[in-house]
Amino acid sequence: MERYFPMRKLPAQSGYKKGDVFVLVGELFGRGYANGIVDEARKAGMTIIGTTVGRRDSDGTLRPLNAEELAEAEANLGGKIINIPLEAGFDMEPAADGQSYADILKGIKPDAWESFVFDQARLDEVRAKGVARFKGNLAGVVAELQPLIPVGATVLFAHSMAGGIPRARLFMPLLNRVFKGSGDKYLSSEQFWGSGLGRLCSASFNEVSADTFGHLIEATAALRATTTVRYTAYGYHGCEVLINGKYVWQSYTPYLQGWAKIRLEDHAIAARAEGIIATVYNCPEIQTNSSALFMGVELSLYPLLQSLVDGGNGPVARGFIAECEALLNDGVTIDAVLAAAQKYLADPIMQQFDKLAEWPHHSTKEQMELMLASSAELIALNKSPKEIICAPLSRAVFQGVGALMFHDSWAPEKPVAWLNHDIIAKQLNS
Ligand SMILES: NC(=O)c1ccc[n+]([C@@H]2O[C@H](COP(=O)([O-])OP(=O)(O)OC[C@H]3O[C@@H](n4cnc5c(N)ncnc54)[C@H](O)[C@@H]3O)[C@@H](O)[C@H]2O)c1
Repeated sequence: MERYFPMRKLPAQSGYKKGDVFVLVGELFGRGYANGIVDEARKAGMTIIGTTVGRRDSDGTLRPLNAEELAEAEANLGGKIINIPLEAGFDMEPAADGQSYADILKGIKPDAWESFVFDQARLDEVRAKGVARFKGNLAGVVAELQPLIPVGATVLFAHSMAGGIPRARLFMPLLNRVFKGSGDKYLSSEQFWGSGLGRLCSASFNEVSADTFGHLIEATAALRATTTVRYTAYGYHGCEVLINGKYVWQSYTPYLQGWAKIRLEDHAIAARAEGIIATVYNCPEIQTNSSALFMGVELSLYPLLQSLVDGGNGPVARGFIAECEALLNDGVTIDAVLAAAQKYLADPIMQQFDKLAEWPHHSTKEQMELMLASSAELIALNKSPKEIICAPLSRAVFQGVGALMFHDSWAPEKPVAWLNHDIIAKQLNS
């Protein structure tokens, strides 16, 4: 595929320094991807600035963080947060008849989900309102940011926004069937995606996970006139992991955000064509607040254990491996974990999903059942299902990814780059 550009060589050291400004566009959660790049920016002595999506009051009003929430968020980030709500999406925006999607969806019972009628005019109306709100608030954020940038400083933006499942109780049982359903509970992702609710989700994912990056690039045009600005964003488009001793591209199925992630790449490609230094880094599957819904997404993380050894087995890599060993059940070895993960990844059922050009793929019942059973089998190898080795492995990945993005973003070769397990292991062993 033309845009497939796996990073194979470690990037040169970036030139970011004290006085340069790092801006996180999205909130920082304990196990979120952004922790990696925030740590790198801090190590380089950059000034760290954060943003917030704001909070919704019980009457639905979007508001900035209150004093307590702000203090907590700033302590967590280790930097000032510009307190203007950057929530994206349109699920709470009322149309002319006073009804928002959140209101409409309240009236639909989970077993009648297919009765939802998609109305393009309504979508266009509330989406335009949501975009206007987001852009207006973003302009406010940029206005507050500008005086915080010293003359001659470089600015690095990291966009970490993703999401957009409309807030309605109806989605919980439905998405549980799509992402965790087997047997009678299985609901094909294609059936869901083709429904009215699927079309609604698609529009919402595009807005939150993709177009916010485009809005950011647009809203900071004036900044670029006086300052060197670089943009990074987190993508997902499958990932190469070790399967039968070789790095092979694979992906989590059904990744319904995938179309939005391709659209995110398109924003970086369009920006780069105009000479703007914007890069989407496609990253491996890890466990975060956002990926918790996707049961089985963690399966491709296990082979990282082998990559860490093959990539040099240095002290950092060994530290992560030791952490994993401590979490495994007595008598369970890393080799046993690797073998169980290989059994899943190399299963013939998975071959139907091995074409990157056909991504994103829809689920099949046999694939979902294999994935869910394999996920449970591997989780059972840990002492506690609540504390599994995917936690340290996820940390290893976001740490490696953070360093790769941070340094590569200084002079990125392509607008879209894949950070696979090989380069992450190399980075962690460097
Ligand atoms: N977890 C994975 O396996 C994985 C893999 C590849 C890429 N990514 C990407 O990494 C990025 C960070 O995600 P993460 O997995 O670390 O999870 P996370 O939950 O830590 O981060 C999600 C981010 O999305 C923001 N967000 C959520 N809803 C929003 C809304 N309506 N409007 C604006 N912002 C909103 C949150 O503030 C947060 O910054 C995302 O772009 C995600 O798609 C994740």
